[in-house]
Amino acid sequence: MLSSVILGLLLPLLSSAQLVGTNTPEQHPSISFATCSTGGSCTVQQSSVVLDSNWRWAHQGTSGSTNCYTGNAWDSNICSSPSACASNCAIEGADYSGTYGISTSGGDLTLKFVTQHQYGKNVGSRVYLMQPGSNEKYQIFKLKNKEFTFDADVSKMGCGLNGALYFVEMPEDGGKGAFSGNKAGAKYGTGYCDAQCPHDLKWINGEANVLDWQPSATDPNSGTGRYGACCAEMDIWEANSIATAFTPHTCSKEGLYRCEGTECGDGAERYQSVCDKDGCDFNSYRMGNTSFYGPNGVVNTNARMTVVTQFITTDGTDTGALKEIRRLYVQNGQVIQNSKVNIPGMTAYDSITDEFCVDQKNVFQDNNAYIQKGGNKVMGDAMERGMVLVMSIWADHAAHMLWLDSSYPLDRPESQPGVKRGTCPTSSGDPKDVESQQANAQAVFGGIKFGPIGSTFRA
Ligand SMILES: *[C@@H]1O[C@H](CO)[C@@H](O)[C@H](O)[C@H]1NC(C)=O
Repeated sequence: MLSSVILGLLLPLLSSAQLVGTNTPEQHPSISFATCSTGGSCTVQQSSVVLDSNWRWAHQGTSGSTNCYTGNAWDSNICSSPSACASNCAIEGADYSGTYGISTSGGDLTLKFVTQHQYGKNVGSRVYLMQPGSNEKYQIFKLKNKEFTFDADVSKMGCGLNGALYFVEMPEDGGKGAFSGNKAGAKYGTGYCDAQCPHDLKWINGEANVLDWQPSATDPNSGTGRYGACCAEMDIWEANSIATAFTPHTCSKEGLYRCEGTECGDGAERYQSVCDKDGCDFNSYRMGNTSFYGPNGVVNTNARMTVVTQFITTDGTDTGALKEIRRLYVQNGQVIQNSKVNIPGMTAYDSITDEFCVDQKNVFQDNNAYIQKGGNKVMGDAMERGMVLVMSIWADHAAHMLWLDSSYPLDRPESQPGVKRGTCPTSSGDPKDVESQQANAQAVFGGIKFGPIGSTFRA
């Protein structure tokens, strides 16, 4: 009786939530990027990257050390409900290089795939670009009528790996302002969402995703909860040394939308999702040019390259509808135009337009959720609201990355147009093999530049 009275008094005081730990100070690795103007003059800005909250140690209380989450399971006492878990648990500052294999130098970011550290092994990572001079806000990019350029070194990433650089419509402050349960915010990498409506997020909208949590059968560090976090996604770059794709994904909701049930589009309900999970991808190999990208290819993945992506609007203004997404490469001082589609029944497109998406989905007999959810126009609407830059390295427990670099789906013959996407065998890409065979893999991104069309690169 007495104790419940005391608890009743204490709880309101304790109910600040998803706390911030005090064991390790959070220091974002610094990185520079450039903002360019018409004519090609660029201004270098000093900024930083932040590690996503999912990778961080979550423990009881701000200075405690009892785990809230161990391996791939929550402590059911500390985390008896989504809000109790957020009130009871703090996420910690990160030892970026020591624990997570994340380092920066000038304008370069290196993400190691596997990092052995004093408490075990880290696999993969995901970081966001911060606003220059801010510890509390992500940099927001408005891509329409603009050009985004970066360098990639994919030479140390083989089959099954994905070094990804992309934009998602995350909240600028990580959701700290909208959800009182979130005391951590962008400084601790909260607020992730993407067009797959991922269920593996531990924290969504200031609550822990503990309801119906299922530890992964194959991933000792991951699981899935009842809720997913959906939002529009523009994949500029999903790549390894064998294959690459750029892919817009639209959603019928604005910003981060916490989904539950059918609208998440899990399994057989894939096309009932609020987001277009397939996207409209341009992968040169899949689109009929098998010698364009790869080791010693026209774009040679043994060497560093510059990747340019242009977002063209109907009327050539920042507010016009997004019409076309164009790609160029620069390597060894040469500008390399994107490969042209070489598929019977298709026009020789070299960019992503709605017409390309309609034709590709027809000829490949794929679902066209991208166009059903508004196509480039609706992708551009998300860009106009603003998107956050994500860089990550990961292996794929669900589909072994075969959709990027091998033949996929496995129930279609390899000879069917659109099935073969790269030279990796269909037996490749199991994360346990990738972790053991490519333990030294890493993704390098650098030289980020943003500005009007034609301002960010030269031959
Ligand atoms: C692939 O792209 C390169 C460079 O644009 C071109 O020279 C070559 O003819 C293309 N091959 C096919 C099969 O389209």
